[in-house]
Amino acid sequence: MTDVPQSAPDVLVHLTAAGVSVVLDSTRGRLPAVVHWGAALGAQSREDLRALSTADVEPREGNVVDEPVRLAILPEHHAGWPGRPGVAGHRDGADWSPRFQVTSLDVGPGATVDDGLVDGGPCAIVFHARDEVAMLGLELEVELLASGLLRTRAGLTNHGGTAYTVSDLSLAMPIPSRAREILDFAGRWSKERIPQRRALVTGIHDREGRKGRTGHDAATILSAGVPGFGFTRGEVWGVHVAFSGNHRHFAERLATDAQVIGGGELLLPGEVRLGRDEDYRGPWLYAAYGDGLDDQARRFHRFLRGRATHPARPRPVTLNVWEAVYFDHDVDRLVDLAERAAALGIERFVLDDGWFRGRRDDRRGLGDWVVDETVWPDGLSPLVDRVTQLGMEFGLWFEPEMVNEDSDVARSHPEWVMQTGGRLPVRGRHQQVLDLARPEAYAHVLEQMSRVLSDYDIAYVKWDHNRDLVDAGSLPTGAAGVHRQTLAAYRLMDELKRRFPGLEIESCSSGGGRVDLGVIERTDRVWASDCVDPLERQGIDLWTMQLLPPELVGAHVGSPVNETTGRRHELSFRAGTAVRGHFGIEWDLAKASASEIHDLAEWVAFHKAHRELLHTGDVIRSDDSDPTLSIHGVVSADRSEALVFLGYLSRYESSPRGRFTLPGLDPDRRYRVVPVVVGAPDDGLAPPSWYHDGTGIVLSGRALAVTGLRIPGARPERVVVLRVREEVGQGSYGSGG
Ligand code: DGJ
Repeated sequence: MTDVPQSAPDVLVHLTAAGVSVVLDSTRGRLPAVVHWGAALGAQSREDLRALSTADVEPREGNVVDEPVRLAILPEHHAGWPGRPGVAGHRDGADWSPRFQVTSLDVGPGATVDDGLVDGGPCAIVFHARDEVAMLGLELEVELLASGLLRTRAGLTNHGGTAYTVSDLSLAMPIPSRAREILDFAGRWSKERIPQRRALVTGIHDREGRKGRTGHDAATILSAGVPGFGFTRGEVWGVHVAFSGNHRHFAERLATDAQVIGGGELLLPGEVRLGRDEDYRGPWLYAAYGDGLDDQARRFHRFLRGRATHPARPRPVTLNVWEAVYFDHDVDRLVDLAERAAALGIERFVLDDGWFRGRRDDRRGLGDWVVDETVWPDGLSPLVDRVTQLGMEFGLWFEPEMVNEDSDVARSHPEWVMQTGGRLPVRGRHQQVLDLARPEAYAHVLEQMSRVLSDYDIAYVKWDHNRDLVDAGSLPTGAAGVHRQTLAAYRLMDELKRRFPGLEIESCSSGGGRVDLGVIERTDRVWASDCVDPLERQGIDLWTMQLLPPELVGAHVGSPVNETTGRRHELSFRAGTAVRGHFGIEWDLAKASASEIHDLAEWVAFHKAHRELLHTGDVIRSDDSDPTLSIHGVVSADRSEALVFLGYLSRYESSPRGRFTLPGLDPDRRYRVVPVVVGAPDDGLAPPSWYHDGTGIVLSGRALAVTGLRIPGARPERVVVLRVREEVGQGSYGSGG
């Protein structure tokens, strides 16, 4: 770390990575303001940066304050910024409008520091600031990551002698006024991540998550872009709050044309009250700029894949027993299911809800993490041993943050149940929340889980969280406790991973209710949705992959008639949809026909043969097609191959069909595009002439991206798979020959 001396209050920063530049102005000791965040600027001299900063100064026009309003990453009310301030807090009514002065900054490796100019590539900078009147300290971290993703986080310290109440600590990134269209996500149980678009107009588009979990309806990424931005084109700026508790994303536009996107944790009344020298640190706010949504997604994916903790070994094909047996745990039946799974090539077998004491339905047992002796007289060994003998990993379901009133733990420690106002909260899925911020309750869960994880050979935990937090107070006072509960859940995950090296955790919350980069720091997969209907998953998975790369998105093949929607689908559509993610099965295989088992085995083999590409390549989607066709592909890092899945969502509007394009390939190389049939061919296919009886067609990457191909004819609710491979030795179109 290079320490910039206190005598250097004038700092300009220019960092560039992967086609993104960020320019910060922290001159005259003021908090850093973003002068530029977007496409790379190329080399900039000190004078250039000063000029850029000057060009950004707001003119004084109309009835405004007498100094140009300056917007810092932590927006300050004292500067005349009339939008949402970064700090909302007070000391018994005072010190509510802090004015911070930067005292020093730490510049991490990756940039040079020369006479107040910080210049370089990916780099982390920490600005230390103080307000001597309000007696507050601020640590503002800003980091440009190698993928071009930017992240920022703030920590507030109380240096005063009396308590300081923090109600909000939000960060905001300015965006250009040409970004006038917002895209974020809505959703509900079993239908997560529904995209919604609207114009960015004056005021605040405020997405509050008050459910004590990320939420099925979470904004996930709040983006603003040039009108009409799509997957492959149109500048877009987005933010994501990496937190699994209450949180907020917002886009704000002022009458002055200034606009920001930002967010932070959403704090409940009194949740953060800082004593002397205590601090509160907010979550990371990730900021992703892209030329189109694919570019934006790639920045998240590349960052996640670059982490030391990112799952490195091939993602095991998984069988989860939930939709096969629900609570009906019978050892012989489960052993039989395991044997059928192994025969198919399954690599991980997950025993879901229902294995612990008293858990015969969803009304009792949560919180008692001991094996139910009535159903499992010999413990889990008969199943675990058989699963591991068959060469599969064993996974087990837990819901560590929850409790049923009908459980030993709730009977012995009613004070561990979160509540406020002298009453129990309204139940959700018949359950309550266990107060993990209480050390005794935390120790109870940690020790019971550790015992089970030590007693059996368990490689994987499916970590569920099945209700919103309502009235989530901590006794004895009933003080609001979502903040501490979220951090305690994180601590518990971290501690289990420390105790059981190699243990993988899946983040599930009634399906896809906990999908965020806070939980992903300590987990290895998300369960994207309780709904495995492929028609729904075409959208849910595609949009979940806006944040997470495919290998982190759990996707299963369910039974022919979907358990949630009642729709019937061919195996090819179910498997051809799930195969794009972390592939698995959730179906009672004893009920599958011989031909279904045969085809399923082919899909498992297909996935294994291609999972390296699927799980390391760049996700591509296409804007150039009829909206009834969903185009999802993955291109290898060296651009030599791709797999493309055409999802036929409903009947096409015209006949014969139009074209679709394939972006993301090397424009100057030639590729052969070949249809792939896995399992029995679908009926109703109308092959286009470019199929050439299955040998496919050779075109340049440029022609595929710009001109495209005729869409193969297929019935609705089908998937057509295409393999794209570079034609080696066929010459290229590049100037380099
Ligand atoms: C909700 C999850 O999303 C399901 O997959 C299953 O684990 C159930 N909970 C079990 O209660």
